[in-house]
Amino acid sequence: APLVIGIDLGGTNCRGGLVTASGALVSSRRMATETGEGLEPFLQHLVRFCGDLIADAGDGGQRVAGIGIGTPGVISSEGVVQISPNLSVLNGFPLARELENRLGLPVRVVNDANAIAWGEGEFGAGRPFSSFVALTLGTGVGGGLVLHRRLWLGSDGSAGEIGHVMVDAEGRLCGCGNRGCLEQYASAKGIVLSYRNLVERKSGNDPPCSGWGGSDGGAVALAEAARRGDLAARASFAEAGRRLGQVLGGVANLLNLDGVVFCGGVSGSLDLILPDLEDELAHRAFAIPGARLRIVAGELGEQAGIVGAAALALELLEEDGFSA
Ligand code: BGC
Ligand code: NA
Ligand code: ZN
Repeated sequence: APLVIGIDLGGTNCRGGLVTASGALVSSRRMATETGEGLEPFLQHLVRFCGDLIADAGDGGQRVAGIGIGTPGVISSEGVVQISPNLSVLNGFPLARELENRLGLPVRVVNDANAIAWGEGEFGAGRPFSSFVALTLGTGVGGGLVLHRRLWLGSDGSAGEIGHVMVDAEGRLCGCGNRGCLEQYASAKGIVLSYRNLVERKSGNDPPCSGWGGSDGGAVALAEAARRGDLAARASFAEAGRRLGQVLGGVANLLNLDGVVFCGGVSGSLDLILPDLEDELAHRAFAIPGARLRIVAGELGEQAGIVGAAALALELLEEDGFSA
């Protein structure tokens, strides 16, 4: 039976694993994503990482059918990273072709949130839903749309960019060049920024929550402060919840989905986000699509992107004539 390598290549961390055709993870590895030295050293790290995973298969890699990589940004169906606001070293780069040349294995590159949606849909919290959206809240805000159990890629593979739906026309400048994108309020960075804006308004006061300076880690420190009762921290998560509710109200009206699956680091703080999200959603969505929408947390955690990228790669390879 074939094995597929699945990789979740993020702006901060890269996680990978060997995955069976039924979605079981048989080994896993991680490394920091090093982009500081430019593209070629970055690629060499990635090739070495894939080589280690191939070696984990233990038979000289004979059973490894291919590699699936989920990574942030708009990815063409040929695996070219068209634009990636949070991993800009890859902007415009034909990642799939280049890795195929270097590794001698078929490689499929897909959007990270699409891979996560597929993983949760096949093996996790998306299973009860015929049609759902997966939202990843982390360094960025990503989305993956599963409609009638098929991943909706759109005409060019770029569907699902929910983080860059605008919630405030005059709002914060986004890495994509637009203003007021959801990501600027509901990502780890965005929540930390909301907090900073709140505490800096009261000049002369030290921020009540220490350890909030980073982005992903900062959001974790803020969540702890919010649970201890820090009002500015609570308000920052509430702001994220409101913005998410606004967007999901529109999504419910547009698509009448069964569910929303929250994934990514910040989804560990869903309890702090949900009250305002649900309140807003109740106001923004029509009653019928609103009532249908079930909001749940992902079940696969960090593994979602790995098993999802592997499963999606296997699907795409089969479409291209590979038989398991
Ligand atoms: C990117 C998406 C990605 C998301 C999560 C966003 O900024 O535009 O493509 O899925 O971050 O990484
Ligand atoms: Na997506
Ligand atoms: Zn944006």
